[in-house]
Amino acid sequence: MNTATLSTDQAPPLNIPLSFYAFAPLALVVAGTLLAAQGTQLLTTHWLPHTIAWVHLGTLGFLGAVMLGSLYQMVPVVIGASVPAIRVAHGVALLLALGTTALVAGLTLGIGNATLAGAALLLVAVLGFLLPVGTALLRAAGGGATRTGMRGAVLCLLALVLIGVRLAWGHATGALPEARTSWLAAHVALGLIGWVGGLLTAVSWQVVPMFYLTQPFPLTWQRILSQLVPASTLLAAVLALVQVPLVGILLAALPAAIAVWLVQPILLTRLILQRRRRRRDPTLRFWWLALACSPLTLTCAVLAFLTDWPPAPLLFGFLAILGWAGAIVHGMLTRIVPFLTWFHRFTAVAGLAEVPPMKQLLPDAQIAWNWRVHTATVVTGTLAILTQNDVLARLTGGLMSATGLLLAGALVSTLLRARPTCPKGVAQSTLAP
Ligand code: HEM
Repeated sequence: MNTATLSTDQAPPLNIPLSFYAFAPLALVVAGTLLAAQGTQLLTTHWLPHTIAWVHLGTLGFLGAVMLGSLYQMVPVVIGASVPAIRVAHGVALLLALGTTALVAGLTLGIGNATLAGAALLLVAVLGFLLPVGTALLRAAGGGATRTGMRGAVLCLLALVLIGVRLAWGHATGALPEARTSWLAAHVALGLIGWVGGLLTAVSWQVVPMFYLTQPFPLTWQRILSQLVPASTLLAAVLALVQVPLVGILLAALPAAIAVWLVQPILLTRLILQRRRRRRDPTLRFWWLALACSPLTLTCAVLAFLTDWPPAPLLFGFLAILGWAGAIVHGMLTRIVPFLTWFHRFTAVAGLAEVPPMKQLLPDAQIAWNWRVHTATVVTGTLAILTQNDVLARLTGGLMSATGLLLAGALVSTLLRARPTCPKGVAQSTLAP
């Protein structure tokens, strides 16, 4: 692993990213349980409040928690800019969990006040995140295109949350905006492409060469993608605001969609295939799953907007959230959490005492099971949406919960295997996180 470019001395305490990561498996287990209980009812149309709630367990509970937690880690370590008032992050993690729970409960049970409370808590969480992290990103001098990409992604996050709050208010009060479809299109474009796509793309330029020893991502492409993705999706939001017809909004977001789901995956595939040292790494399988799902996601997005084919919108959301972004997030957690844990627990004593190899903290065989069950969930869920088969839908729910449990198992077992022991001559304080 090549960590030469990292400012590891700036790393926040381990419990900062972990307080966010803890929520991700829980959200998957709850989403799986809801699907197992409700079956195809949840997969009939994306307009149902139940389905919207279920989608947000994925976008906020699973992806959002991991992405926010990782930014607290990456902005100082990768960009070299320390985040002020870092302890506020614990409050943000709590508000994110409470807000997501209230929003999901409010939409599922039709309780307007809970929906409103959820949206308000989420707004406060995102502002509490953006003020310090945004300040650090604005002040940062290093980081190149990754920094530009991160800035664009967090700007999209702010815009999408404001639109989300407006839509949630509409659900709670019955006063949905007249141009609801346009608002929704802008919210989804900002969320899945600008925020999730922009961040995963910018971060992959750092983590893929570092963890998998590929050549660096071409600089020209880094510059183009880091600006194109936020520019195109933010333009879509502005067009929605000035009430341009839906087709204009979709055309504005199209370059970003192509960049995230076609150009970036092609470039990444080439880099991974051209590696000289092809070490076996089970976490790479998650990237392959994501790379396979990217063009399918783009195809479903185009079908959802150009045709009346009923499964297209749901398939698009499912593949984007669990197949593409979810696979990257799950795979990166199984790679980064052992790295962070080892780094925090053992760096100070490496050479002074016997420390376990990083690989021992989360064995390959365990990661392979996480990948198998995650992939099975994506395949079964795709078939369930295509066939509207109730048994398959409930089976997908069971598999999704199992994916969440396996992810929780990976996180907890990594921490347990790295429990600090106090070797002779080393102060206990040097082993604390
Ligand atoms: C404060 C946070 C958020 C709130 C309050 C919120 C609220 C909403 C609401 C009320 C809808 C339904 C709109 C309608 O019925 O017209 C919706 C849809 C959607 N949102 Fe969010 N959202 C938030 C964050 C996010 C994030 C971070 C993402 C993606 C990363 C996201 C992705 C989506 C998607 C894909 C849909 C479409 C769901 C469907 O059609 O079933 N949202 N959001």
